[in-house]
Amino acid sequence: MNFHILTLFPEMVSNGLNTSIIGRAVNAGLLSIEAVNIRDYAFNKHQSVDDYPYGGGAGMLMQAEPVYLAHEAVAKKILGRTGGTDSRRIRTVYLSPQGSVFDQKMAEDLAQEEDLILLCGHYEGIDERVLEEVVTDFVSIGDYVLTGGELPAMVMVDAISRLVPGVLHNDVSAEFESFQDNLLEYPQYSRPEEWHGKKVPPVLLSGHHANIEKWRREQSIIRTYERRPDLLERCELTDKEKKWFRKWLEENMKCQ
Ligand code: ADE
Repeated sequence: MNFHILTLFPEMVSNGLNTSIIGRAVNAGLLSIEAVNIRDYAFNKHQSVDDYPYGGGAGMLMQAEPVYLAHEAVAKKILGRTGGTDSRRIRTVYLSPQGSVFDQKMAEDLAQEEDLILLCGHYEGIDERVLEEVVTDFVSIGDYVLTGGELPAMVMVDAISRLVPGVLHNDVSAEFESFQDNLLEYPQYSRPEEWHGKKVPPVLLSGHHANIEKWRREQSIIRTYERRPDLLERCELTDKEKKWFRKWLEENMKCQ
């Protein structure tokens, strides 16, 4: 999969994504991450890319033309490689607090793309006209305002990349982790068997795989109920699990 990040701070994204699992996947040729400097497409001799907003107001706005030219250059390269003809069909995400909130489902959807363009805004944002022309998806990483789209773009690259086959080495772990099925992951333990007086739950030492699986699923349900009850409402439990959970609730509500 190929990520193309349009930004005024290319070194920020390149440096942030060249280590650990993502860096290794890039070196292995499973991913490519290209950081394109929008300033290289400035059309005046001062290389400025921002200007005052019409109508007044605080701060500066990124101008339409450099963003458009940077997008066109990347789109041309992609179409040259894929044989496509329409640059508007290339998935182009604008990172903004005004977008749909990024989640695992969106990561899974975007991981199907061969090329993904991520457009990072700065200052007070980008001239609306170029967004209308190039952007296919408006995405926020959460309900708070950051100084630019670079960190959100890096968050998206990380979450999407780990779904690309081969990136995690064992595909099983991508499948069964938090948010699969809208359930949070169960607690995990490693050696020693006892630490600070706390023992590893005996079922995990039993070697009984069916019991371990059942315990883990139940722990996932309890953890989701305690930490993210909003997710539990969207999760599909079997009739048997519903019955078990009702009983668990009855028993644990009594204790409070
Ligand atoms: N740019 C600034 N804040 C943002 C956010 N929360 N998500 C995505 N892009 C942003």
